[in-house]
Amino acid sequence: MENPHVLAIPYPAQGHVLPLMDLALCLVRHGIRVTFVNSEFDHKRVTESLSGEENVVPDRMQLVSIPDGLESWEDRNDLGKLTLSIFEVMPGNLEALIQKINQSDSDKVTCIVADESMGWALEIAKKMGIGAVAFWPASATQLAQKFSIPKLIDDGIISCTGSVLKNQMVKLSPNIPEMKPEHFLWACFNDLELQKIAFQTLCKTNVTVKLADWLICNTSDELEAATFTLFPQMLPIGPLLASNRLGKSVGSFWPEDSDCLAWLGKQPVQSVIYVAFGSFTIIDPTQFRELALGLELTNMPFLWVVRQDLTAETDNAYPKGFKDQIQGRGRVANWVPQQQVLSHPSVACFLSHCGWNSTIEGLSNGVPFLCWPYFADQFLNQSYICDVWKIGLGFERDANGIIPREEIKNKIEQLLTVGDYKQRAFDLKAKVMNSVKENGSSGKNFNNLVQWIKDDKEQ
Ligand SMILES: *[C@@H]1O[C@H](CO)[C@@H](O)[C@H](O)[C@H]1NC(C)=O
Ligand SMILES: *[C@@H]1O[C@H](CO)[C@@H](O)[C@H](O)[C@H]1NC(C)=O
Ligand SMILES: *[C@@H]1O[C@H](CO)[C@@H](O)[C@H](O)[C@H]1NC(C)=O
Ligand SMILES: *[C@@H]1O[C@H](CO)[C@@H](O)[C@H](O)[C@H]1NC(C)=O
Ligand SMILES: *[C@@H]1O[C@H](CO)[C@@H](O)[C@H](O)[C@H]1NC(C)=O
Ligand SMILES: *[C@@H]1O[C@H](CO)[C@@H](O)[C@H](O)[C@H]1NC(C)=O
Repeated sequence: MENPHVLAIPYPAQGHVLPLMDLALCLVRHGIRVTFVNSEFDHKRVTESLSGEENVVPDRMQLVSIPDGLESWEDRNDLGKLTLSIFEVMPGNLEALIQKINQSDSDKVTCIVADESMGWALEIAKKMGIGAVAFWPASATQLAQKFSIPKLIDDGIISCTGSVLKNQMVKLSPNIPEMKPEHFLWACFNDLELQKIAFQTLCKTNVTVKLADWLICNTSDELEAATFTLFPQMLPIGPLLASNRLGKSVGSFWPEDSDCLAWLGKQPVQSVIYVAFGSFTIIDPTQFRELALGLELTNMPFLWVVRQDLTAETDNAYPKGFKDQIQGRGRVANWVPQQQVLSHPSVACFLSHCGWNSTIEGLSNGVPFLCWPYFADQFLNQSYICDVWKIGLGFERDANGIIPREEIKNKIEQLLTVGDYKQRAFDLKAKVMNSVKENGSSGKNFNNLVQWIKDDKEQ
């Protein structure tokens, strides 16, 4: 009898490789063999970051690679070029790889699990008569934007090449927060040519995704119920938090300040404001000073992650005397192990840029939020946090677009003393954690998927 053998293929970018790798590890833990196919370029980076670490690749997993069609020196950040090249050369390379694997009867590939953006791999699966699973690594609501493209065109909101025609708020369904068209997935690119390529790529996958036997998302019914009602073909299986990642250093670009955990241990329970803006946010120097002064005004302990490039001349950007004022009470760090910080009992709230990762990590730990969105999509997360789940507050900006120090202090106090933000955050955590348990909605979907992969080979 054949063994189930999954071939997993991510979109070749770090933000896609790691989530699919996490998923692959979950399948491996359930007894399924996985061949993980990176582009040669990513494969080299992954294996280099693993060198020196022993036994991190489990027995049932194999890391292999195929070319992405670009020369080794060509720029992978040129998304337009990379995407075109992927569509042109990777399908042939993947088929050849499968044929090679198939030469051994006991190894035959029985199912392809592909990033939703690599829809052509699902076509290959169908062509070969094997299982096809599409994986969407981000929020379901983002995928829903994509699925709504035909309707958005019909309604005259966007043109058939994706440019925004009407700048009005859009509601995909009554219970999904409204969004600005200029915040759509493909509209975020400043470069119009790139926007067109992104849009065309998204449109291509609207056909291939229909080939998938399963379309799974790393999120939960408890978080985005209205989206799953609108598009019942999407199945939530998460949030599958990264607990068993390959290689400690993969994915973290700065040395972590682990001493901050010892420092947290000395603070009273639920007393610390944790402040972090992710990897990309930039804050203007005036705003940076207001934030520093706002934190000082609270009189509470705080742990603030300040990357070297968070603001212009970061080292000189602090208000005069700030470091003396906050001695012993405030701690500034370059980078911290965020999951461990958020799960620490001393943390009272999370002042966040509201990236999806940070959002999920905060809510999985029952921590209430202060939302400081920066990029387009993050505003949608703020709507979920503040309006749908009601586990956080946003800030008002003044006439100059600055969030003033008093506003920062007041909202932090309000979050922690008025209303039931803490309680609701705690309740949501319980619901979300239950959904990934064996009998929860996500857990059941995941187990059904595993069973299907194991049975499908006998079809
Ligand atoms: C979010 O997490 C995924 C999976 O761990 C990672 O690949 C990605 O880079 C993270 N995104 C950001 C913006 O940090
Ligand atoms: C590989 O093996 C699978 C499972 O037996 C089969 O369905 C598929 O057609 C084979 N593919 C190739 C390229 O030989
Ligand atoms: C896919 O997108 C194209 C172009 O926007 C659209 O015309 C078509 O109806 C969509 N197909 C499906 C199956 O949604
Ligand atoms: C939250 O923001 C991230 C970008 O940081 C985006 O990828 C994600 O789709 C947003 N979440 C929702 C629910 O739209
Ligand atoms: C699921 O999402 C969380 C939070 O963004 C991330 O840490 C984790 O790596 C993701 N897991 C998978 C399997 O994509
Ligand atoms: C899941 O539900 C089944 C049937 O209701 C029950 O027999 C089983 O004990 C439950 N498992 C867990 C882990 O709760």
